[in-house]
Amino acid sequence: MSLPRPPSLRGPERRGLGALVRRSALVRRFVPGETLDDALAAATLQAALGIGTTLTYLGDPPRDPADTAAVAQPYLEALDSIQERGLPCELSVKLSQLGRDARADRCEGVLETICARAARGPTVVWTDMEAPAAVDATLGVFRRVRERHPHLGLCLQAYLRRTTADVESLIPLGVALRIVKGSYRQPRAAAYRGRRAIADHFFRLGARLLASDARAAGVRAVFATHDVGLLGRLRDHARSLGLGRDAFECHMLLGVRRGYQRRLATEGYPVRALVSYGEAWLAWYVRRLAERPANLGVLLRGLLG
Ligand code: FDA
Repeated sequence: MSLPRPPSLRGPERRGLGALVRRSALVRRFVPGETLDDALAAATLQAALGIGTTLTYLGDPPRDPADTAAVAQPYLEALDSIQERGLPCELSVKLSQLGRDARADRCEGVLETICARAARGPTVVWTDMEAPAAVDATLGVFRRVRERHPHLGLCLQAYLRRTTADVESLIPLGVALRIVKGSYRQPRAAAYRGRRAIADHFFRLGARLLASDARAAGVRAVFATHDVGLLGRLRDHARSLGLGRDAFECHMLLGVRRGYQRRLATEGYPVRALVSYGEAWLAWYVRRLAERPANLGVLLRGLLG
């Protein structure tokens, strides 16, 4: 799976296009708005349906990564609001936005600050996984910070062959792991090719996380995909092991497969929707569109209508 790069629009160019695209009902369905209040309003509605929320802030990469207080600020603000309102929200962060690519030690400091504030909840903080070239750096920061902050979880990508070994090394630590298919360009040799091969690897990883030793170690297994066939296989597998409904946790994007999300929640399975907000939402949104070209037609109809 190789996706086009998101556009890197800046300033007025981005605001103009952003304003145009934002009018579409499809965008509003996926991105409730740019502000934290918009995201929290969506989380409140989700909570009423029994669906939790993972908030992800989409800001521009830090202008000055050395200003660690400024880099941490949006996340601390989100945590304070989540905790004040008692919302069932978790947070997901991209280490590139915390300045990982400039200096890993500074990024680690910012993540520590975020995790320390999250511990007051406690609120789980997820570490997103980005491009393959950044996997080692992300794992390094994650492992070091996780030693002091047990509420830090990690996303791993099923399209990467190495993820089997990464999962094995993390299971004894009892980590919260969110498995996704993966959405960045990957080097041919490092990745599985084709939907079937990626879904099969996803299933094997999921089955491994549901195994008795992983559960005994305290692993929290999260399956973040809209592939309901794959989710069905994982759910059947959890059932065949005699596991309770809490073992099958599903995360999706806000607005995708809404009926399925609601059904799972009604049946008592843990479900979360990823809610994005922040001024850099457009590049993220274009990536999501690229994942499902059929959405383009709906977007165009919304813009022209
Ligand atoms: P796939 O793309 O095969 O789609 C399965 C079916 O779901 C499709 O046939 C389509 O019908 C439907 N579908 C998929 N996307 C849709 C959309 N946007 N709109 C409508 N229908 C859609 N990636 C990453 O590399 N690092 C990360 O940290 C994360 N984090 C993350 C968190 C959460 C909560 C989710 C849901 C996803 C991510 N991802 C991610 C993205 C992930 O890697 C992947 O690119 C997308 O989830 C799309 O792949 P699917 O697993 O849904 O399968």
